[in-house]
Amino acid sequence: MRDGLKRPRGLGRLLPALLLASIPLLGLGKTAHASEALFGEHCAACHGTEAQGTPGLAPPLAYPALWQGLGQDAAGYLAGVVRHGLSGRLQSQGQVYSGLVMPPQSQLTIDEIASLTEYVLKLSGVDRAVSPGEVEKTLSVARSHRQLRALRPTAL
Ligand code: HEC
Repeated sequence: MRDGLKRPRGLGRLLPALLLASIPLLGLGKTAHASEALFGEHCAACHGTEAQGTPGLAPPLAYPALWQGLGQDAAGYLAGVVRHGLSGRLQSQGQVYSGLVMPPQSQLTIDEIASLTEYVLKLSGVDRAVSPGEVEKTLSVARSHRQLRALRPTAL
């Protein structure tokens, strides 16, 4: 009988702790969901809902060899292409994309570019955090389409 009375008090103490503990998890879920929605809204029409690419229109972004080939420049290249767009001849998975222009996605904030960069890399198994600060730094390195193209291995 005494135990029965104590139990609600124990639970009462536990509940706020449980709620606090779940906040970071909720936060993570929200971020992943937000970047997926951003991709759906700003990239999927051309690159496909799974980032698999659309032959003749836009190259695949879910493509591990591309990001491996770019190595340390992967996040900077990705963020740079999103901010500045891209044009020129591009070969990807044996397909040539020529005479096509990706328009600069100037509607996106630095924060949004950071979460998109993280999301797209993760689709290819590159699991690492990309902060807005890192994006800002990399955006100042490659500004023109020519500079961006120079970062990328040509035959992929
Ligand atoms: C209007 C269509 C369109 C939209 C929208 C678009 N892209 Fe592109 N994207 C292209 C085209 C076309 C190319 C190839 C450009 C070229 O041939 O130089 C490209 C190229 C790229 C590349 C280079 C791929 C490689 O193989 O080197 C990346 C990275 C990229 N886009 C990311 C994105 C992301 C992320 C978004 C969303 C924020 C996005 N794009 C939105 C059309 C688009």
